[in-house]
Amino acid sequence: MKFSVMTLFPEMVERVLQESIIGRAQKNGILSVECLNIRDYSQDKHRRVDDYPFGGGGGMIMQCQPIYDCYQDIANKSEERPYTIYLSPRGSVLTQKKAQKLSALPHLCLLCGHYEGVDQRVLDEIVDEEISIGDYVLTGGELPACVLIDCVARMLPGVLAEESSYTNESHYSGLLEHPQYTLPRSWNGREVPELLTEGNHRLMEKWKKEQSIALTQKMRPDLVRRPIPDNKRLRFMSKEDQEIFLEMVTAFYSTPGVLHTIPAEHMGKTFEGILGGDPYINAYMIQFEKKVAGYCLLSHTWSNEAGGLTVWIEELYVRPECRGHKLAEKALREIFALYKNTASRFRLEVTADNKGAKKIYYKLGFKMLDYQQMIKE
Ligand SMILES: C[S@@+](CC[C@H](N)C(=O)[O-])C[C@H]1O[C@@H](n2cnc3c(N)ncnc32)[C@H](O)[C@@H]1O
Repeated sequence: MKFSVMTLFPEMVERVLQESIIGRAQKNGILSVECLNIRDYSQDKHRRVDDYPFGGGGGMIMQCQPIYDCYQDIANKSEERPYTIYLSPRGSVLTQKKAQKLSALPHLCLLCGHYEGVDQRVLDEIVDEEISIGDYVLTGGELPACVLIDCVARMLPGVLAEESSYTNESHYSGLLEHPQYTLPRSWNGREVPELLTEGNHRLMEKWKKEQSIALTQKMRPDLVRRPIPDNKRLRFMSKEDQEIFLEMVTAFYSTPGVLHTIPAEHMGKTFEGILGGDPYINAYMIQFEKKVAGYCLLSHTWSNEAGGLTVWIEELYVRPECRGHKLAEKALREIFALYKNTASRFRLEVTADNKGAKKIYYKLGFKMLDYQQMIKE
């Protein structure tokens, strides 16, 4: 894979990327990074590349001509037009998923801005996408370019010793990685969790997944509970919802959609778990015409078969007076969107003769499992 970096400070990028793993990958021919100095393309006799902004305001703006000529030089030497990215604080924030997509491209051309930014016209002419490395402002695009190249390059075959080195890591599956330990087993009075030293692979894998989900809930709840825009049909539950939630759960467990009733204390415990941030539960209130129209209770589990987080739709209930507006279907579609980057599978139970519910689920793409379920309590 090839990276062409358009910058006013080529050494800054070159020096960072010649070190360690990325430097070795360059030497091994897995990737190449060429840094072009935009100043070398200036037609100004003083090699000027910037000027004052039209409309006033502080700082200088990088001009179109040197950047465009630099880009043309790169494009003319390439068989295919390179995918061109402007590193910019207003771009969409770089994620592991985005880096993975970029790693499939043969040639990336990166434009590093400096000063106040870049004349919009050259951006409109050459840039495919603007990418930010976070919601803050740096003095130039050189560090962001190094960050992007490092993140993309480490997913190229051969850069890391094994593919699992990055597929097991934070963000790849949408979750954060479990805590890690090495020798000695005891340090400063702190012990390595015993289970990790006992060698039972099944239990160790289970522990890692559980830790991964719990840690994500604790450190980055936004990754598993996506923020919900105000105008959506779903919202998180709050303390004030207790009464109506218990009322709806009671009603749900007396519908033909379920086979058994449940003790009242289960409902209270579930409500506490939801508000207490239990990593295994998630729940949403369904809103309709500014009123509570129903609820959806979800639980989080892991599926080796599906290769990741499985979201169980435990309970989905719409109050009788709000039915006829496709709220269940719309709420589910919103839930799919909220878990778009994290869940590998959605799963639910349906009673054999609940034809209405099945029709909706089939329409939403669910299919019947061949497995029979078993439980032990
Ligand atoms: C001082 S910044 C310009 C900020 C610009 N005036 C604004 O308010 O959006 C100069 C350059 O640094 C780079 N830069 C700064 N912060 C960045 C970030 N968070 N992600 C990517 N690039 C960034 C961009 O290339 C930008 O052109």
